[in-house]
Amino acid sequence: MKHLIPEFEKLRERFPEGFDSSLVLPCLRRIQEERGFVADSDIEGLVAYLGVPRIQIEEVLSFYGQFRRAPVGRCHVEACRNLSCSLLGAERLIDHLSKKLGIRPGETTPDGEFSLATVECMASCGTAPMVAVNGSYHEAMTAEKLDALLDSKRRGD
Ligand code: FES
Repeated sequence: MKHLIPEFEKLRERFPEGFDSSLVLPCLRRIQEERGFVADSDIEGLVAYLGVPRIQIEEVLSFYGQFRRAPVGRCHVEACRNLSCSLLGAERLIDHLSKKLGIRPGETTPDGEFSLATVECMASCGTAPMVAVNGSYHEAMTAEKLDALLDSKRRGD
């Protein structure tokens, strides 16, 4: 995390003095972009850098489901399970993903290629059901489209 401190210093310039706690969210986002997840050592580093209580960082991490606390696969598949997606078959798609990948939500394939997570609304309800791979949205998904997407990711597309 230390190599990100120059970036964090630039972020700090955007906030009024004394508002260091406002930096928790953008710093965590940047850490996750870099590492793929937020490690305990990152939390300790932020506590030392920002001078905020650890609980404040833990609160942000636990509130926002987008944050990960453990490594994920090279292709991190997130399937929305919220209302609009559920009404359009999200559960069937999640079952399909589980069978196709051989893992359940929260797991990573043994080769580290794929991980699967269920997530809350990704603000793409109008094109439900929604699946994201490494943050890229794939909308109006069907089992057939999922198969093609996963096959292309297996090939490294
Ligand atoms: S409910 Fe799935 S994107 Fe909104």
